[in-house]
Amino acid sequence: MEITRVCVVGGGTMGNGIAHVFAQKGFSVTLVEAKKELADKAVATITRNMDRQVAKGGLTAADKDAALGRLKTATSIAEAAGFQLAVEAVPERLDIKAAVFKDLEAHGAPGAILATNTSSLPITDIAATLKDPSRVIGMHFMNPVPVMKLVEIIRGKRTSDAATEAVKALTVKLGKIPAVANDFPGFVSNRVLMPMINEAILCLQEGVSTKEDIDTIMKLGMAHPMGPIALADYIGLDVCLAIMEVLDKGFGGVKYKPAELLRKMVSDGKLGVKSGAGFYEYPKK
Ligand code: 3HC
Repeated sequence: MEITRVCVVGGGTMGNGIAHVFAQKGFSVTLVEAKKELADKAVATITRNMDRQVAKGGLTAADKDAALGRLKTATSIAEAAGFQLAVEAVPERLDIKAAVFKDLEAHGAPGAILATNTSSLPITDIAATLKDPSRVIGMHFMNPVPVMKLVEIIRGKRTSDAATEAVKALTVKLGKIPAVANDFPGFVSNRVLMPMINEAILCLQEGVSTKEDIDTIMKLGMAHPMGPIALADYIGLDVCLAIMEVLDKGFGGVKYKPAELLRKMVSDGKLGVKSGAGFYEYPKK
């Protein structure tokens, strides 16, 4: 089945980035958000990010207009009926995702591939209540989606070879590189990344160094584009904590225990860039 129509559910940081790249690469995209204001906000973000690409010479103004012309919004999955691929990017709660997938199964074209951008929830669990879990797969994009080349593809226990191959080919069409992982807690990306971020937060908590120096050490010493503390703010401290909790629950032991300082930041509402403050301050522009 040729994939031309894509439904993206959720227009937050990841969802708007995912809708952006599909529209830019020629797909007809319906972005589904719970409320019209949220959908409009997502389109405004996509427009701003495309303007930035135009200003930097990575996209022509005509291609930007064409991409935005391929992007529609909706407040229900039913309005997007007939899509051949869905990518879900709603909050990281199994009950919310399971409800979205029920809806996606009811409204997709026959045989449509149903992908989740979950950062750590088991694909097998998300697919568990569907009639055909073989079409459910993880398509884990990295933030910022328009820039980052990787899509981590996660096979649930019942994901078919056909769905995996189709999503790999699609990733290449998006100008990105697929890498496949099996359905273990945190997959590969977050199983490796999050303990590093958590350890950096422990270094801060224990007074090993300042946040600035921890970031400088990892940026210049390990050639990371961002230090781990700044990256945690960028990803969202609530997201980092949720992933650490999945790892802790899945594997146990000291290695995956979330840092107390991370818990405190989240309970204080300091979530990073998106809330205006995390370990660093992000004044509104
Ligand atoms: N949309 C479009 N373009 C964007 C963009 C966006 N949202 N954000 C940045 N860009 C573009 C810029 O226009 C610029 O383009 P150019 O190369 O043509 O000039 C380029 O990206 C670099 O951006 P900046 O010049 O503004 O800034 P930097 O050079 O400091 O790069 C960064 C910013 C790309 C965010 C870089 O610091 C980086 O790669 N950081 C690490 C990001 C990372 O590790 N992401 C993975 C997080 S983990 C994850 O997502 C998984 C989840 O499950 C937690």
